[in-house]
Amino acid sequence: MKRSTRAVTSWRAQVKCLVDDGLILVTGAAGQLGSVERTVTGLLLDRGFRVRAMVRREDERAVSLRAAGAQVVVGDLLEPGDVYRVVRGCGRVYFGMSVSAGYLEATVTMAAVAREAGVNALVNMSQMTVSEMSIQNTTPSHHQRQHWLSEQALAWSGLPVVTIRPTMFLESFLQLAAPSVRNRDRIELPFGRGKTSPVSAADVAQVVAAALADPVPHLGRIYELTGPQSQDLDGIAREFSDALNREVT
Ligand SMILES: NC(=O)c1ccc[n+]([C@@H]2O[C@H](COP(=O)([O-])OP(=O)(O)OC[C@H]3O[C@@H](n4cnc5c(N)ncnc54)[C@H](OP(=O)(O)O)[C@@H]3O)[C@@H](O)[C@H]2O)c1
Repeated sequence: MKRSTRAVTSWRAQVKCLVDDGLILVTGAAGQLGSVERTVTGLLLDRGFRVRAMVRREDERAVSLRAAGAQVVVGDLLEPGDVYRVVRGCGRVYFGMSVSAGYLEATVTMAAVAREAGVNALVNMSQMTVSEMSIQNTTPSHHQRQHWLSEQALAWSGLPVVTIRPTMFLESFLQLAAPSVRNRDRIELPFGRGKTSPVSAADVAQVVAAALADPVPHLGRIYELTGPQSQDLDGIAREFSDALNREVT
């Protein structure tokens, strides 16, 4: 766990007490199966918070969020007017969306709106890869750069931010690995000799929900979330072999 030094003292002095901030906004709330955002919405509702769940379209996922008790709003994170409409009235905001070409634009739009709307805490979903990046050491991955630049922009914004940097979600890893394990008893993923330590999206959601429920102790902090051990694909293949009782390489 790291603490970002800049801007911590200025807003900590300003944010005296966040008791009732009204609604909590969760973006990307429709998510996919096992998604962090859907789980966060459920955890907050279970704790009695009022949650505004932002979705991109009205579909069965929106219906199920509404049935769970969330106030569902439809909008596009790339449209400033939409973002203002969904953020207004929310003291705390979770910001996350699929990494795509407009990710940085969406982050900057959210930052501009959150400043204007006077948001008291913004929990930003980032990635563990950002921990290894700097001006002299970025990455050829456009997606990972979007996250690094997004964190930079949020730091400049002066907003009270909590940064979540998970490794790959276990659920995403399993989804990607499953077809070749099922059909060829092999994990065929482009990791080379690299190591990874997938973390459960359910665990990440618990951390996000805790930060949203009581943000003050977490403001300015960066939480790096990993699974229990970092290993290469050979190590992970051994775990698959043990679990499936057949050899997976
Ligand atoms: N997946 C991982 O292994 C992993 C690991 C570490 C960090 N993260 C981070 O977690 C975040 C979410 O990733 P994910 O893989 O969980 O994403 P995801 O489930 O694919 O997307 C989350 C949500 O973003 C919504 N969305 C996309 N573009 C939008 C827009 N323009 N306006 C409004 N909503 C929009 C999607 O809506 P629709 O469902 O309608 O498309 C979806 O519900 C990202 O920042 C990612 O870097 C992910």
